[in-house]
Amino acid sequence: MTRAKAKQLGTAQEGEPLLFPVPARPDAEIRVAPIDRPLWTGSKARLIQRYIRLFIMITHHGNYIDGFAGPQSVENRDDMWSAKLVLELEPKWLRRFYLCDVSRDQYRFLQDLKKAHVDRNITIKRADCNVWLPEIVKEIKPKEATFCLLDQRMFECHWSTVQSIARHKKAENKIEIFYFVPTGWWRRSVTALGDERVLKQWWGRSDLDAVRKLSAHGLKMAFVDRFKELGYKSVMPWPIYGKDGTVMYYMVHATDHPEAPGLMRRAYKNAVTPLDPPEQFGLKYAEK
Ligand SMILES: C[S@@+](CC[C@H](N)C(=O)[O-])C[C@H]1O[C@@H](n2cnc3c(N)ncnc32)[C@H](O)[C@@H]1O
Repeated sequence: MTRAKAKQLGTAQEGEPLLFPVPARPDAEIRVAPIDRPLWTGSKARLIQRYIRLFIMITHHGNYIDGFAGPQSVENRDDMWSAKLVLELEPKWLRRFYLCDVSRDQYRFLQDLKKAHVDRNITIKRADCNVWLPEIVKEIKPKEATFCLLDQRMFECHWSTVQSIARHKKAENKIEIFYFVPTGWWRRSVTALGDERVLKQWWGRSDLDAVRKLSAHGLKMAFVDRFKELGYKSVMPWPIYGKDGTVMYYMVHATDHPEAPGLMRRAYKNAVTPLDPPEQFGLKYAEK
């Protein structure tokens, strides 16, 4: 571009003094191809398992934190329980597992799971994860790749818990979060909610009147924005469908790793197909 043309367009050429400081260009958003088939609620645990498999192929190590770790469906816990499917992954490159559930009955399943994997480093806790996760997150070292599943039912996860996980690692990639946003029953639930404190802890801000009015789509986008405000380089909502073909909820994936959104797309696409042997992945399968 000539200097005259640049002047005409109001842009500066290299070396030319600028009237105003130019803000740093934000990192370009990481883009992945749109999904071409729906994932059903029954496949959520397999989505998580498939993603973690791809995650460890890249990182060769990692920690897994699950704040709401008990099985959603007790009768289907053999093949639809995230914590179990992730623990069964080979190669066993994930190093530490932190599994929490507040319910006495659900905690028993965590005890059984730990007994079935005596060779793994698993910490289980019967607690409110809003108390426990901010404590254990301090054990995560800056260079440790870490994935945190926050698979609440509706309003159980306090936003302050999300913040303490997201803010723990300052210099390296932040802890990845996979966060449940219920949209299918959102309007019904928020209308029926009597206790304002529950909404406030979940949302973590005082603009509750505006939140109460959000549509399901608005709620999803609001959480995408909230995760972006935490500084994540990529925040993507992945729809999970019910049997009637409508979206029941979104799993919002917040990550700093440039390859992670593409891996999640791949996991989403392949969640219903059998696990490939590691060499099929086409990823570098290096020594630990
Ligand atoms: C939707 S289920 C989790 C499903 C699980 N991720 C799976 O793959 O099957 C939610 C779990 O969170 C537990 N829970 C609810 N509130 C909690 C809290 N404040 N802290 C820890 N666990 C909680 C429930 O007991 C229940 O087991």
